[in-house]
Amino acid sequence: MNEVKIFCPASVANVSCGFDILGFCLDKIGDEMIIRKTSKPGINITKIVGENLPYESKKNVAGVSGISLLNELSTDFGFEIEIYKGIKSGSGIGSSAASSAGAVFGINELLGKPFSRKELIKFAMKGEELASGSIHADNVAPVLMGGFTLVRDINSLDIISLPFPKKLFASIIHPEIELKTSDSRSVLKQKVPLKKAIQQSANIASLISGLYTEDYKLISRSLIDVLVEPYRSDLIPAFNDLKKTSSNNGSLGTGISGSGPSVFALSKGEKTAKSVTSEMGKVLVPLNLKFHSYTSKINSTGIKLISSR
Ligand code: HSE
Repeated sequence: MNEVKIFCPASVANVSCGFDILGFCLDKIGDEMIIRKTSKPGINITKIVGENLPYESKKNVAGVSGISLLNELSTDFGFEIEIYKGIKSGSGIGSSAASSAGAVFGINELLGKPFSRKELIKFAMKGEELASGSIHADNVAPVLMGGFTLVRDINSLDIISLPFPKKLFASIIHPEIELKTSDSRSVLKQKVPLKKAIQQSANIASLISGLYTEDYKLISRSLIDVLVEPYRSDLIPAFNDLKKTSSNNGSLGTGISGSGPSVFALSKGEKTAKSVTSEMGKVLVPLNLKFHSYTSKINSTGIKLISSR
């Protein structure tokens, strides 16, 4: 096998109460990448379509992630990468994670899979670090492992795949403004009151319980973020109206997707999710703001091979 074409899905990180530790994988929304073996050692980015991103490997999240994987092995050949972006940079639905995970997944396939999907997270996190200035795996973990993932510890790669109710669907509204993760991390407080930490822990614990027991009402009661959302919501156009509209149309909960500006909602059933997506979109129409909207099932497989030769 000398070449692979892969689909790299978008993802939602944080899921309200799980800042930097919880995420889930979206279906159909994503990038494509073609990765091929070359005689020239190292990583060469040869094509980027859909976004204006650096070609220099050390400045590109796919390049940095790929280099980090190759540093663990000694190969006398290298890899060429073509990136076809379907996810906009700075959208909050894991654009850099898709490219980072895609590079290491594709290279690993061409090397005969020396690493498991979970082991690849370690390399993909390097791309996230380049993109945001801090290391976290709450997007790359669900992209590589699929479904919902909980990152207990990034150093030991203690990352858990969580079950989720099959009728859970996501709505995504992406207002077309670019919000850099580093900027939306800079508004956060480094110290939090104990009372808020207790509330957040209770919500994350009960959200996980709700996912295991398929208790939609408990999931709904748990989708509350008292630590991060209060500081980031001002960066997102009409956030409070989007949240109210989503709730009025029957969603289980609504929050900021990753570091924003995308907003996500979870609903029970595709019909409700579709109406939540459409009604949230209507909130942005009077603002004369371009936006994209999606309704998605939770993608339980994650990143996947489209073809190989
Ligand atoms: N957990 C990260 C954040 C996700 O919210 O900053 C964005 O990469």
